[in-house]
Amino acid sequence: MGDAAKELRVVVFASGSGSNFESLAAYEPPVRLWRVVALVTNRAGVGATVRADRLGIPVRVVPTAGRTAEEVSGATLSALSDLRADIVCLAGYLRLVPEAVIARFRGRIVNIHPALLPRFGGEGMYGIRIHRAVLEAGERVTGATVHHVTEEYDKGPVIDREEVPVLEGDTPESLARRVLRVEHRLYPRTLDLLVRDLSTNAASDLHIAK
Ligand code: GRF
Repeated sequence: MGDAAKELRVVVFASGSGSNFESLAAYEPPVRLWRVVALVTNRAGVGATVRADRLGIPVRVVPTAGRTAEEVSGATLSALSDLRADIVCLAGYLRLVPEAVIARFRGRIVNIHPALLPRFGGEGMYGIRIHRAVLEAGERVTGATVHHVTEEYDKGPVIDREEVPVLEGDTPESLARRVLRVEHRLYPRTLDLLVRDLSTNAASDLHIAK
């Protein structure tokens, strides 16, 4: 078997512009430990799918609208099984991840959040609202966090964070742009850390059960 067989298969979930998806998919590591093998989205035609097409990465649309939680859960698990996913990265995925998916991928499903968790996280804290809340609270420092996904929204163990200064005259939009640039280097770097950690913990077979 060649080296490629050892690369872990990463599936990214995104519903929006997909700039974090692209930062993961286009990452050129010093040593390749993982590779983005597919994009899963709940909405066809979003920015993330355009980026995936440009990068030649397959897209799976798993619609959530008008479906029961059980249907979404079954369709998501079956897509991940088909894709032989080892790791799931949420990157602006605007739907609740079914609990069965979280349970199946425990320790191997992560999310990026554009603030320093545990502050400015939880229900209702998404998009520009986060950066507005940071400015309203008079914070001097914000940042980005990559954390494990658990059943409790934004509460899973933190893997890594990077700080971003809040500057005089910042608007929610200027802050969002500066944090997003940091996210783009934090996410792939953190995935390297996670994958190294998984292999030193001798996870013998990370492929999900079929
Ligand atoms: C990012 O700020 C990410 O932290 C959050 O959603 C946003 C997604 O942006 N979870 P993009 O679609 O990756 O550009």
